[in-house]
Amino acid sequence: MIEQQKVAVITGGAKGIGRSAAKVFIDNGMRACILDVDITEGNKMQEEFGESLLFINADVSKSKDVAAAIEQCMAKFGRIDYLINNAGIQKYANAVTCLEEEWDLIMNVNLKSYFLCAKYCLPHMQAAGGGCVINVASVQSFVASANAVHYLTAKAALLGFTRSVAIDFAPAIRCVAVCPGTVDTPMVRSAWAEAVDPSAIEEASINMHLLKRVAQPEEIGELIYYLCSPKASFITGQAFRIDGGLGVAIDVSVKEGQKKK
Ligand SMILES: NC(=O)c1ccc[n+]([C@@H]2O[C@H](COP(=O)([O-])OP(=O)(O)OC[C@H]3O[C@@H](n4cnc5c(N)ncnc54)[C@H](O)[C@@H]3O)[C@@H](O)[C@H]2O)c1
Repeated sequence: MIEQQKVAVITGGAKGIGRSAAKVFIDNGMRACILDVDITEGNKMQEEFGESLLFINADVSKSKDVAAAIEQCMAKFGRIDYLINNAGIQKYANAVTCLEEEWDLIMNVNLKSYFLCAKYCLPHMQAAGGGCVINVASVQSFVASANAVHYLTAKAALLGFTRSVAIDFAPAIRCVAVCPGTVDTPMVRSAWAEAVDPSAIEEASINMHLLKRVAQPEEIGELIYYLCSPKASFITGQAFRIDGGLGVAIDVSVKEGQKKK
C-alpha cells in the first residue's frame, strides 16, 4: 500500500477513467483532488468521498484556473505527491474538415492542460520529496483511426512530453504514460451515440480488441495506481499500453484449415 495521506491531483476526475483512479487512490488510504468542469458529477464525488476528496471546478486548459486550483489543493491538503493528467475530449475531423478553433480546443484540453498541471504541481511534488506524473494518452498514440487528426496529434505528442518530464525531473519524480484501448466511459458512450448505427460501432469496437471486449474504467485506474506505487519504483519515461491486444494482430496469414492439403 502507498504510504497514507499522500495526495493525488487528478484532472477530469469527475467521470470515467479519472473517477476510477480517484476511487482507487482513496480506497488505498490516500486523498484525491479532482479538477473538472462537470460541476454536477464533481459535487456527487464530493458527497460520496467526503474529507478524502476535494472537487475543484476548474478548466484545466486555462492557466489561471490551474494555478488557483493547485493553490486551493495545497491550502486543503498541504502536499501533492502524484499528478494524474487525464482530462480529455474527443472530436472527429480530418486535416481539411477540422476547424482551426476545434484544433486549438483539442490541443488546449488534451495537451496544453497536461503541461499546465505539470508546471504548477511539480514544484510541490519536489517539495514533498518526489512522486509520479501519469499522462493518460491512448493506444492512439501508437496506432491510428480515421478522422481524428487533432486527437491523434495530441495523443502522440504526449509520449514526447512524458519523456521530457521523466528526464528533467529524475530521479525524484517519475513520469509514465498510460495508453488505453477502448474504455467504457461517458466519452466513448457519447462517441458511439453520434454514429448512424451505434450498436454496430459498439460491436466493431469490441471486436477490434483481441480480448473481445472493451475495458472497464477500474482496470485503467488500477494500472495508474500501480504505476504511482513503490511497486513501480524503477519505471519512468515509458508508455504502457492497456489495450486488450488491440493492433497486435494482422489478419493476412494462411490460417489452419485454409492451407493446401
Ligand atoms: N474512454 C476511452 O476509450 C479512452 C481510450 C484511450 C484514452 N482515453 C483518454 O482517457 C482520458 C479520460 O477519458 P474518459 O474516457 O474517462 O472521458 P470522460 O469524458 O468519461 O471523462 C473525462 C472528464 O474530463 C473532464 N474534462 C473535459 N474537459 C475538461 C477541462 N477543460 N477541464 C477539466 N476537466 C475537463 C470531463 O468533464 C470529464 O469528467 C482522456 O484523456 C481520453 O482521451 C480514453
